[in-house]
Amino acid sequence: MVEISTSILQVKKENIIKTIYNLETAHTDYFHIDVMDGEFVERDTSLYMREYSEYIKQISTVPLDVHLMVSDVKTYILSYESLDPNILTFHIEACKNTQQILDNIKLIKSIGARVGIAIKPDTSINVIKEYLDKIHLCLIMTVEPGKGGQEFLTKTANKIKELKNYIDENNLDIDIEVDGGINDETAKIVKQNGANILVSGSYIINHSFKEQIEKLRKVN
Ligand code: DX5
Ligand code: ZN
Repeated sequence: MVEISTSILQVKKENIIKTIYNLETAHTDYFHIDVMDGEFVERDTSLYMREYSEYIKQISTVPLDVHLMVSDVKTYILSYESLDPNILTFHIEACKNTQQILDNIKLIKSIGARVGIAIKPDTSINVIKEYLDKIHLCLIMTVEPGKGGQEFLTKTANKIKELKNYIDENNLDIDIEVDGGINDETAKIVKQNGANILVSGSYIINHSFKEQIEKLRKVN
């Protein structure tokens, strides 16, 4: 069974409280928090994503799935510690060397979160192989990071499969999360290729939450 992580990137401030409430009622498995710093990607969402995460912690028990699209990974990991995220994911492209990657993994574990490493559509899964026995999740971006509402890139399907095969061959226990352009059609593709956590923003937020989440969950 796949899990659904709803991205609240596109939710307007005036609707956030009722959206959090309604997404919890619609049984989203996670709230997906897209933290952008204006440097790793063009947009800066850091302030309002922080604010939304604080609201979630106040009124909901649904876990936070934090996706850091930032250059200064360490600072953002530390700043999210007080929000008790279930998953904290950073981009491998934001790291300068192996030591930095290992330090980030260690830091995330020390704050009690599950560790995710994200890769952009053009980054090969070869670069993350050596860290897979130290992390909990790999996030494969199925659009270029930076904004919601983009079209799913079909070229990423093979990468999901490649990673899934590698995980199985090496008896690893790792979740494969996909993010970007997920709807009931593309959900089929990613699920068949081995993804088990689906991030979805516009497909859920612009429609009936419950119906859309159920449709994504039932895809096979
Ligand atoms: C893109 C973000 C995604 C995005 C998902 O940089 O990481 O989480 O908001 O939104 P949709 O489902 O609309 O592509
Ligand atoms: Zn995301």
